[in-house]
Amino acid sequence: MSGRLEGKNIVVTAAGQGIGKATAIAFCNEGANVFATDINQETLNILKKDNPNIDVFKLDSTDKTSVENYFKHMNQIDVLFNAVGFVHHGTILECEEKDWDFSCNVNIKSMYYMCKGVLPIMIKQNGGSIINISSCASSFKGFPNRFVYGTTKGAVIGLTKAIAADFVKQNIRCNSIAPGTVYSPSWQDRVNQSPDPVQAKKDFIARQPMGRLGTAEEIAAVAVYLASDDATFTTGSTIHVDGGISI
Ligand SMILES: NC(=O)c1ccc[n+]([C@@H]2O[C@H](COP(=O)([O-])OP(=O)(O)OC[C@H]3O[C@@H](n4cnc5c(N)ncnc54)[C@H](O)[C@@H]3O)[C@@H](O)[C@H]2O)c1
Repeated sequence: MSGRLEGKNIVVTAAGQGIGKATAIAFCNEGANVFATDINQETLNILKKDNPNIDVFKLDSTDKTSVENYFKHMNQIDVLFNAVGFVHHGTILECEEKDWDFSCNVNIKSMYYMCKGVLPIMIKQNGGSIINISSCASSFKGFPNRFVYGTTKGAVIGLTKAIAADFVKQNIRCNSIAPGTVYSPSWQDRVNQSPDPVQAKKDFIARQPMGRLGTAEEIAAVAVYLASDDATFTTGSTIHVDGGISI
């Protein structure tokens, strides 16, 4: 621990597993007071057991009232890390309206609610950093069978830039991270659920120029930078952490 986030209050969404969990732990290791949220109480309990310094709270980021109530009880929040996201598999022809609505709700509307909840607090304290998780499958690159996922992750980049533009004078920074394929429980589920899991794993790795998946900790390291005072001149950006997929 080097204390790069000493004294900062940080809210993390989707902290129960994967990138959100690794980032919550990395923030804590850097001295932050971490408020970890997720829809899944069981995984939050495990996080708490292994990391007693992290505060955990069950929160559905797509539930407007719950999000509003959550922020009502918070005073100082220096950083918001938005990691909630869902991968729908298929082209536009396999994307029914309910799939479209679900993905837009989870991947975009959750960030709208969370950012809208935190911004009045950040404005009042005259500063803050918001970090949104996008994807290399977004406005940067199209991938097969990622129609609504890529659409929503492109929107996350637009949302990020819009907030960065609107609140730059209030000392509030807003950036996104676009990961390549990262090992996580939901990635493992996608592999297991495919018709040929062995081939699916090979295909995921083959599209990574470095010939391997990323780790959640490699994404967390960049999140620590964006949350810290090392990044005070960085806003509106999207940092690719993708093993070269966007070269
Ligand atoms: N894993 C990858 O390869 C990869 C690549 C690029 C981008 N991403 C993005 O990174 C983020 C995290 O993905 P991951 O694969 O590390 O984690 P994951 O998909 O394994 O876990 C997601 C977490 O989000 C929580 N969650 C789901 N809906 C929620 C809601 N409505 N409210 C609160 N929490 C909710 C789940 O309970 C779970 O703990 C997502 O936004 C994803 O799109 C992942």
